[in-house]
Amino acid sequence: MLFAHTHFLADSQLTRQQLIYLITLAKEMKANPQDYQQSLAGKSVVMLFEKPSLRTHISFDIGIQKMGGHAIYVGQQNGRLGVRERVTDVAKNLSCWSDAIVARVFKQNTLEELAMFAGIPVINALSDLYHPCQILADFLTLSENFGDLSSIKLTYAGVANNISNSLMFMASVVGIDFTLFCPKGYGPDSLLFDQALDLAKQSNASLTIINDTKLIGEQNVLYTDTWISMGDNSSINDLEPKLYPYQLNHDLVKKTGATAIMHCQPAHLGQEITRELFDSNYCLARQQAINRMWVQNAVLFALFNNK
Ligand code: NVA
Repeated sequence: MLFAHTHFLADSQLTRQQLIYLITLAKEMKANPQDYQQSLAGKSVVMLFEKPSLRTHISFDIGIQKMGGHAIYVGQQNGRLGVRERVTDVAKNLSCWSDAIVARVFKQNTLEELAMFAGIPVINALSDLYHPCQILADFLTLSENFGDLSSIKLTYAGVANNISNSLMFMASVVGIDFTLFCPKGYGPDSLLFDQALDLAKQSNASLTIINDTKLIGEQNVLYTDTWISMGDNSSINDLEPKLYPYQLNHDLVKKTGATAIMHCQPAHLGQEITRELFDSNYCLARQQAINRMWVQNAVLFALFNNK
């Protein structure tokens, strides 16, 4: 029982050994998909999405189908969870028929409540706090490109959000040196940062927040995401002047010596990243998208097989 989890809700809940196990399993499933064609046979997975999705929706749907399972998508037509009926009751009803829930929600609490009352595995498909499936795919991508994860220096540039939180936790658990390069006032929640610092101490990783480009130093990988996440009502006109110094562009790549850049997508070209860099050979976004399906299949396999 290496994974030994009932749910997949947050990166911070996993050990280094469990993360490496999931990445290794995803690699094995990617290399030998024929061996897993029936691994979800007879299983139905409900996908509850309170927010829009392209990659997560489609990669889960096709991934489940490739393992012989059945995916049912419930989109935004029913409004936010907890409005028409309690989240508790949604959870209890879904578990009458389905074998797992994949959920994209406005609030992490909604996932916790689903998990508490569903009695079936719940997987975080993005919340306000975390996007663990994305970051697991990103770490598979890093492993494919760099081999040893613990020697990587990774900087996230932009606004702290669900992606940077998950990166910060997974980097701290795995032992990657992680820098958050963001304007003052746009860093992570201090409780989450302190929690990640504790994990980083245990793995001997460094975890730093910087506001000034002079402090960035040499990096292997630069990562960015949208300046305005789904559910955030900030105005782009207010943000742009503060955030342009944190844009991913060829100058920053040259300054840091990074050999790869990453983006979870959707990309806002000309804002958090230039079109030239996003479309260049530095960009691993396509490989990240490919790997979404394999890591999610690994998570489903591990949850259903009590691994
Ligand atoms: N931070 C972004 C990630 C999208 C995949 C959002 O929450 O909208």
